[in-house]
Amino acid sequence: MTTHLDTAVAALGSARGRTLALTAFDDAELLAQHSRLMSPLVWDLAHVGQQEEFWLLQTGRGSYHPVFHPRVASLYDAFEHPRATRPALPLLSPGESRRSLGDVRGRVLDLLERSPAHDPLFAAGMVAQHEHQHGETMLATHNLRAGAPLLTPTATPPGRAVPHDAVLVPGGPFRLGADPAAEPWALDNELPQHEVHVPAFRIARLPVTNAQWVGFCAAGGYDDERLWSAEGWEHRRTAGLHAPMSWRPDGAGGWTRRRFGRTEAVPPDEPVQHVSFHEAEAYARWAGGRLPTEVEWEKACAWDPVLHRRRRWPWGGEPPTAERANLGGTSLGPAPAGAYPAGASAYGVEQMVGDVWEWTSSGFGPWPGFRAMLYADYSEPFFGGGYRVLRGGAWATDPVAVRPSFRNWDLPVRRQIFCGLRLAWDA
Ligand code: AVJ
Ligand code: FE
Repeated sequence: MTTHLDTAVAALGSARGRTLALTAFDDAELLAQHSRLMSPLVWDLAHVGQQEEFWLLQTGRGSYHPVFHPRVASLYDAFEHPRATRPALPLLSPGESRRSLGDVRGRVLDLLERSPAHDPLFAAGMVAQHEHQHGETMLATHNLRAGAPLLTPTATPPGRAVPHDAVLVPGGPFRLGADPAAEPWALDNELPQHEVHVPAFRIARLPVTNAQWVGFCAAGGYDDERLWSAEGWEHRRTAGLHAPMSWRPDGAGGWTRRRFGRTEAVPPDEPVQHVSFHEAEAYARWAGGRLPTEVEWEKACAWDPVLHRRRRWPWGGEPPTAERANLGGTSLGPAPAGAYPAGASAYGVEQMVGDVWEWTSSGFGPWPGFRAMLYADYSEPFFGGGYRVLRGGAWATDPVAVRPSFRNWDLPVRRQIFCGLRLAWDA
């Protein structure tokens, strides 16, 4: 039988394997800033170790002698140092960072072996999820990097012909949020679980694809102010948006896109990636729909209307596999529409978990009765701050770091993350 301890150790191990693989490059590569939106990779590398030490070893232990000296640790405080300023900091070198990471991890594994209490296991799960979140962030950095490819994609299943239709989700009660018994690593913003009444709505069976987005571009969607919110149009103008991030006209009426150092024709059947919330909202209006609320999204993903209870995953209780969802970060992109019939939700909605994060219309705020977790600044400082919620995880997300109740958030202008959309309609 797998104990919680084994699960925690395995999650920490998989996160570390990914961190080291994404930073197994020469020092110059790790010190470079590839975009002002992102940190140099060496910052993420040391930050995950500094956070691990702080949450698992240091918190609550006055006499602890740290691996990361307090003056060094403060360099890895994300609130003190915004991403654009991080290359100028006196950061640890890649070698020093790797050594410190290893020292912290050695102490952590000792502690977990000795401590039978439950709390260090929640903290370990939280820290493993944090490191995996930075794995995804490091993939976004790699994606923006100029130069020859460093990473090689693995294959995804082929797409299949599925109608791009809308599925009815009848109105009625639904239990929103994580069940802590089933999801002991649910983070604070997923709790507490509570009943909500969701009016009937329809939601798209599949995410919006590149082919559909090309239609929006061709119809002049980027130049039609009526499709955009006032804030969205202002951003569209000042940022000069005319297509998703990294798309270029191919000179023959089509489009190419660059990702992870490779330029290729935009594949029509793939879910569109790298569009901002503002673009997603304009597309939805053009297509005669809207974005789902995050509550609608979670009901379509997790609710079983026959058994009147939540499923742990859209398809049921079994863990994610390569046949059910595109997760884990090795494919370097979403799979084509229809690639995961075995991953459909009870309502028949596909590709909700994995492939692309899906923008919702919801602002980021607490569920009623919210209580901050150990890492009290994880969620709360961002509530009500103009962030929009994204759901479902992307191809870059590890299974440990996503659930149907998992809530991601970002500013409505951001599009360097692996984000797309799915439409909804009033019933
Ligand atoms: C949940 C992805 C919005 O990366 O900004 C990482 C996660 N928080 N370190 C982010 C996070 C602290 C966070 N997101
Ligand atoms: Fe962090």
